[in-house]
Amino acid sequence: MNSAVYFLLLMLPLISAQITRWGPCPTPRLQPNFNLERYLGKWYEIEKIPTFFAQGKCDEVNYSLRNNDTIKVVNSQMFQGNYRYIEGTAVIQNTRQPAKLGISFSNFTPYSTYWIVSTDYTSVAIVYSCTDILHLFNYQYVWIYGRSRSLPAMKINNAKKMLRKEGINVSKMKRTDQNCNTDQADRVAFC
Ligand SMILES: *[C@@H]1O[C@H](CO)[C@@H](O)[C@H](O)[C@H]1NC(C)=O
Ligand SMILES: *[C@@H]1O[C@H](CO)[C@@H](O)[C@H](O)[C@H]1NC(C)=O
Ligand SMILES: *[C@@H]1O[C@H](CO)[C@@H](O)[C@H](O)[C@H]1NC(C)=O
Repeated sequence: MNSAVYFLLLMLPLISAQITRWGPCPTPRLQPNFNLERYLGKWYEIEKIPTFFAQGKCDEVNYSLRNNDTIKVVNSQMFQGNYRYIEGTAVIQNTRQPAKLGISFSNFTPYSTYWIVSTDYTSVAIVYSCTDILHLFNYQYVWIYGRSRSLPAMKINNAKKMLRKEGINVSKMKRTDQNCNTDQADRVAFC
């Protein structure tokens, strides 16, 4: 069998849980004049398209700058009563398009797209990722983040409206359970 086809067959079960679309990735408009400094710090996940792997709750992400100008990205969540986290690295690959970050969670995987569609820096952020496989089809992730554990419905609706306008299907987005009262950051630090 043609190895590309074989690769596709291997990938299918993994991606079927994501939004899968035929054709190449859409190219939404992104946050103009994206200011990384103002974006850094902690965000709570409000809604996302659920991924295929096991789900926890109270997902957070904390962005900070490393000495070498890469961005440290710490995703954390509570899973079966324990906090767990994963550290990744994001970079601005082209300074002329600062809202187009690339992200990787291992030294062995290439950067995936991690685009800031919109943010006001102080309350809400929309992040979008799309990977296309041989321009045949693509899988997409979308996250709505808040600076607090919940956002007014109006802000969530506006975020989705904006995504729809940019050709991104939000019908599979699900609310993230943020029913946690402790601050995870302190607890995961020494895991
Ligand atoms: C930046 O520093 C981090 C942590 O020290 C390291 O893992 C990463 O490889 C470095 N990246 C570059 C591009 O130097
Ligand atoms: C969005 O996706 C859902 C299910 O995946 C589909 O039923 C719906 O028609 C899509 N909407 C648009 C506007 O493409
Ligand atoms: C985010 O990460 C930075 C760098 O590791 C850390 O100094 C900071 O305390 C963290 N912020 C929060 C709110 O957890």
